[in-house]
Amino acid sequence: MILEPAPSSRQKGGRFVYVAAVFSALGGLLFGYDTGVISGAILFIEQDFALSSLYIGIVVSAVLIGAVIGAAVGGDLADHVGRRKMILAAALIFALGAIGTAAAPNVFLLILGRIVVGVAIGIASEVAPLYISEVAPAKARGSLVSLNQLAITIGIVVSYLVDYALAPISGWRYMMLLAVIPAAILGLGMLPLPDTPRWLVNHNQPDEARKVLKRIRGSNVDVEKELDEIQQGLKQQKAGRAELLNPLVKPALMIGVALAIFQQVTGINTVIYYAPKIFQFAGVTSSSAAIFATLLVGVVNVVFTVVAILLLDRVGRRPLLLVGLAGMVSSLVLLGVSFYLTSLLGVLGDLATVGLMVYVASFAIGLGPVFWLLVSEIYPLKVRGLAMSIASEANWGSNLIVALTFLTLIQFIGRSGTFWFYAVIGAFAFVFAYLLVPETKGRTLEEIENHWRAGKHPREMGKKAKE
Ligand code: BGC
Repeated sequence: MILEPAPSSRQKGGRFVYVAAVFSALGGLLFGYDTGVISGAILFIEQDFALSSLYIGIVVSAVLIGAVIGAAVGGDLADHVGRRKMILAAALIFALGAIGTAAAPNVFLLILGRIVVGVAIGIASEVAPLYISEVAPAKARGSLVSLNQLAITIGIVVSYLVDYALAPISGWRYMMLLAVIPAAILGLGMLPLPDTPRWLVNHNQPDEARKVLKRIRGSNVDVEKELDEIQQGLKQQKAGRAELLNPLVKPALMIGVALAIFQQVTGINTVIYYAPKIFQFAGVTSSSAAIFATLLVGVVNVVFTVVAILLLDRVGRRPLLLVGLAGMVSSLVLLGVSFYLTSLLGVLGDLATVGLMVYVASFAIGLGPVFWLLVSEIYPLKVRGLAMSIASEANWGSNLIVALTFLTLIQFIGRSGTFWFYAVIGAFAFVFAYLLVPETKGRTLEEIENHWRAGKHPREMGKKAKE
């Protein structure tokens, strides 16, 4: 069932886009919840199944393995069967995974269930921003797509709260099961929504695409012009992998993959997944204080993502990315210093806490939202899903590597060495972003495509936008 075009007015058109964006962003909520929930749940799972540390590691990382698989298949399928159907599929898989993990009689089925949940996360992580990007008007695309990142951060905080609330009854099965609720809302909410006009045009359904465009833009806007631009853009593209290897499109692919890796190898998830441990390293000895500080990290992440949402379409993507990266590098250096100066132990807890908060805030205004936003907008329509798959795979793969190596890295190069190592990578990311990341603010997806096709340097895109 697809919604018929409503009596159009500009205001209604605008509102419809928000509804579509909010529902698809629920994929982000599940992404955040299901990645965050394990930090508290693992304490009880470990006891129930008497797990060795090897198995603890496997249970914690299973979701990331699933996400690598989901990211690999999700985007290509989204190009073929559609964005909407893939979000519906993700909702169903989320729900099945939640029930399966909650009911798991042994650790093997639990691991399998977490891999299934991961597949849904991998799909949602790329298809939700893709869907929003393709329905949003150019001038609000930054904020609307980043609702997905906001939902991720809210999901993480909710998971911390649920873990905290259910800890007294050791309720890890309930922690897993609760994800069914947002999964059901995501599925039911997406059911009446249409696919994106861009996907419809690409699949020879121009009339349907026109209906959807009228619905989302309202009648006062020149829908024919937008439709024409989408069609013209498509004419210049080859199908499938050939387009990806087009030398004019390659820079976009390279930028997406590099940002994907930088988003992870600058260490964000060592904080998201191991925050209580880092606070304990820093001398916060009571576990309730460590949990409280962790919650605070989650809240700072949400608040600064809101700041990013307010600014992305005004100041642009590049300034936020650069300021955010500078903040991350400085705070990582500070964290390293605070661990290095062990003799000042009393002060250290505070210094490290400040460092961690600044670090998370800097990620939340820059690399967090900007990565998922840019990869949803810089690729040509025919291969957008496929190219996003490649970037998302790089993101989840690097996430897995960081999660698996963090504690070992600490063993070998020490706590300060580890944070300095992330700082050095952050400095490279800054230089890379400064030299190569384009400014997409205010440009339509078709204008962005034309820019690549004209063989221009990525940074010239920003200069044009200012004219
Ligand atoms: C990243 C996740 C991270 C989250 C934290 C996302 O953009 O992809 O790996 O856990 O931000 O807010």
